[in-house]
Amino acid sequence: MAHESEPQLSEAQIAVHWREEEYYRPPAKFVAQANVGDPAVLERFAEEYFPECFKEYADLLSWDAYWHTTLDTSDPPFWKWFVGGRLNACYNCVDRHLAGSRNQAAFIWVPEPEEADPQAITYQELYRRVNEFAALLRDFAGVKTGDRVTFHLPMVVELPVAMLACARLGAIHSEVFGGFSGAACGDRIADSGSRVLVTMDGYYRGGTLVDHKVKADEAVAAAAKLGQEVDKVLVWRRHAGTYASDSIMAEGRDFFVDELLPHYRGQQVEPVSMPAEAPLFLMYTSGTTGRPKGCQHSTGGYLAYVAGTSKYYQDIHPTDTYWCAADIGWITGHSYIVYGPLALGATSVLFEGVPSHPDAGRCWRIAERLGVNIFHTAPTTIRMLRKLGPDEPAKYDYRFKHMTTVGEPIEPEVWRWYHDEVGKGEAVVVDTWWMTETGGFLGTTLPALQPMKPGSCGPGALGIYPVIYDDEGAPVEAGSGRAGNICIRNPWPGVLQTVWGQPERFVDIYYRRYCHDEHSTDWHDWPFLCGDGAVQAADGYFRILGRIDDVINVSGHRLGTKELESAALTVEEVAEAAAVPVMDELRGRAVEMYVALKPGQTPGPEIERKVAAAIDREIGKIARPAGVWIVPDMPKTRSGKIMRRVIAGISNFTDVGDVTTLANPEIVDDIRHHVQSEK
Ligand code: PRX
Repeated sequence: MAHESEPQLSEAQIAVHWREEEYYRPPAKFVAQANVGDPAVLERFAEEYFPECFKEYADLLSWDAYWHTTLDTSDPPFWKWFVGGRLNACYNCVDRHLAGSRNQAAFIWVPEPEEADPQAITYQELYRRVNEFAALLRDFAGVKTGDRVTFHLPMVVELPVAMLACARLGAIHSEVFGGFSGAACGDRIADSGSRVLVTMDGYYRGGTLVDHKVKADEAVAAAAKLGQEVDKVLVWRRHAGTYASDSIMAEGRDFFVDELLPHYRGQQVEPVSMPAEAPLFLMYTSGTTGRPKGCQHSTGGYLAYVAGTSKYYQDIHPTDTYWCAADIGWITGHSYIVYGPLALGATSVLFEGVPSHPDAGRCWRIAERLGVNIFHTAPTTIRMLRKLGPDEPAKYDYRFKHMTTVGEPIEPEVWRWYHDEVGKGEAVVVDTWWMTETGGFLGTTLPALQPMKPGSCGPGALGIYPVIYDDEGAPVEAGSGRAGNICIRNPWPGVLQTVWGQPERFVDIYYRRYCHDEHSTDWHDWPFLCGDGAVQAADGYFRILGRIDDVINVSGHRLGTKELESAALTVEEVAEAAAVPVMDELRGRAVEMYVALKPGQTPGPEIERKVAAAIDREIGKIARPAGVWIVPDMPKTRSGKIMRRVIAGISNFTDVGDVTTLANPEIVDDIRHHVQSEK
């Protein structure tokens, strides 16, 4: 089914965000202790020092062999960083901290239910667990350097243990967010060609123990349909010895990790020295049309970039207790719960629960109990906690020096509540704009040096030179008040290397649109298309206006309209489907599904339920639509493309634009009447 591509940002969207905000300055106490307080850093990362400036980040790591070429541009846009260098990511995140901080907590795991005590896992203990699991992966599951291993794990320590064990072996991990369905996991298994799936029998969510192993069975079956056999499913048990799932363990395929591990007690696995350019992991994400794509991140460049940005922007010191309340199943968790903080030898909090359960004070009790002083979350959580418990933070005795927001634009009034109430006016707020593809931050503020401006992420991060282009490819001036497509002019070490198995798609999606010369090996000719609309104020700060492609950002989760529509089309009665974003006070955006039925089908709540269930099954509950509307027909162009822009206008009670050129303009009023009278 063809679609009109997602509209550019509308004038209305731009206008909503268009009031200049006052600057906020960091408290003197913060500045005095900051990792980066000397403005000379801005000079060191000036464009004339590119790409050598990134040596400053790479030097935070321990290299087995130092690189000879900082950036190789000979095969654009397949940039290669730190060529000739060798290192092991697990060694950098675990082994090298043993000498100085063996007994320091690497992770503090906060499990559900709330009555359960947090558990500290020291670097020594992490070292032991990672080595044993690496031995099991290698000797029992036959995992070798370069193999892909899929995880479908929740927020438990076993997840970073498995990631680091793969990294130790030089195997490529691919974690699928625990909330995704078995079918979605199966898709990713097949695409990555994994023979091994690591999962867990169950996990806690909002107070209930959820059966998770059932999804592994669906995933293996879905992968097999796509031609990929999984020969080992390694099942951790949430409570060792007790099985929390109704699914039957398949003989010869499924194994309890806690039964196997005793055979590997005390084993040590030599970390494999990997080329800097070897892939470290895949992270699947939605975007444009088609299936989710496996963003491939490198070992040396990625690790250098997340270590550097964790130190400079998150201001993490080894003595801090740092809590990023994201899920490791997303890029934020990979970069800023696991790899960045651990590369710096810090203590990272891992939270199994949901911030609003059992009540809106949960996060602040954790902060008080653990002495958290750096806190990192998404606007959707901030909006929810502000609504549910605006006065809760004041009741608890914690002190944040630093707070981050990530994942969506934050409204200035929500920013101010975060700053004043959650941060008690004592913490800096760092808005970090970036995406799965970019490994780490793109637009943000150096907390001790660059003032904060509510609603703006800030200027380009160190060594990142953004530019906004209009549709014709002309740069849009800062301060012009005009929005356009934000791109990054230069490569940086954290950028994805390719889309797994689809190099042409990689070039098409990220580089084709604004490439100046496809034969050029000069990076200046290859701007990276981020996929967001943005405006730049005269002070150089960017305001991010949202995705310009076929992605709906729900509570900071990227959902592909194409995937939602494909899921709806699995319902027998459905002939056509369109997913549109609607404004939502808490989630930023929510999804509404519009479906037209096959001839002879009768609309009714049963079909609406089927559509919602199909989305649960194919993608996961996180994608469940806020509404399903059955319409007699879709508004279409003369060439038969569905006009999502028109439908979104109806759903949001905004202007639908010019409809006179549609093949069936009369349908617009029909749909409007039907939908708006019921809303
Ligand atoms: O639209 C931008 C929005 O989230 C998208 C990336 O989503 P994902 O790949 O899932 O990564 C999320 C975590 C980095 C972006 O294209 N986004 C992310 N951070 C911000 C943001 N929008 C505004 N402000 C941000 N700080």
